[in-house]
Amino acid sequence: MKTLLRIDSSLRTEGSYSRNLADYFQTMWKTVNPAGKVIHRDLVKKEIPHITNSTIAGFYAAKEDNTSETVKATALSDELIAELKSSDEVLISSPMYNCSIASTLKAYIDYVFRINHTFQYVNNECHGLLNNKKVFIITVKVGLFKGTKMERYEFQNPYLKSVLELMGMKVEYLLSLEGTSNREIAEKNKTTIENTINSIFSIKM
Ligand SMILES: Cc1cc2nc3c(=O)[nH]c(=O)nc-3n(C[C@H](O)[C@H](O)[C@H](O)COP(=O)(O)O)c2cc1C
Repeated sequence: MKTLLRIDSSLRTEGSYSRNLADYFQTMWKTVNPAGKVIHRDLVKKEIPHITNSTIAGFYAAKEDNTSETVKATALSDELIAELKSSDEVLISSPMYNCSIASTLKAYIDYVFRINHTFQYVNNECHGLLNNKKVFIITVKVGLFKGTKMERYEFQNPYLKSVLELMGMKVEYLLSLEGTSNREIAEKNKTTIENTINSIFSIKM
């Protein structure tokens, strides 16, 4: 049975474009994988705290140097990484906040981007350990960035893509919805993305 891990990060639980597109993606995924299981990690309904100094100490400690404090501080990381590793495909929905991702999602990444668990250094180079796990990304923002002067302030798409690739994931699609302040533009762009999602799954069918 195939498993999709869906991760939502918009603070808006109603009227959110990124969650809405993730719903659409999930529906299509279920159509193609009727027996498949969706694990829904909603980073707003169940918040992830910031990592602490003890978490970092636990990440870098040799097994024998761990204390009850570092073991406790890395327990959530263990859980999130196990969940990520056990899923076949991952869907991430992300609104742009202040030129980058929401801190809800950044907090999650801080727990899963972990040395010797999801990446390692070999000859000073970072090697991902997630074996080309497929990830689909949906990003949403109010502004128009692509092909405009604003493009240099767009740190959301390149950041997400980079950090996932550094963990060894394969970004299958990065679907980017821009212009959500103008309902007409937003709805038009949303339809284009829904059509792309249709084509992703019709290719698979
Ligand atoms: C705190 C905050 C910061 C934001 N910063 C930006 C930004 O830097 N650039 C931008 O284009 N949109 C920005 N937005 C707009 C959101 O990206 C936009 O409303 C988007 O539709 C939110 O995603 P959602 O519809 O899934 O909630 C910001 C919104 C909030 C609430």
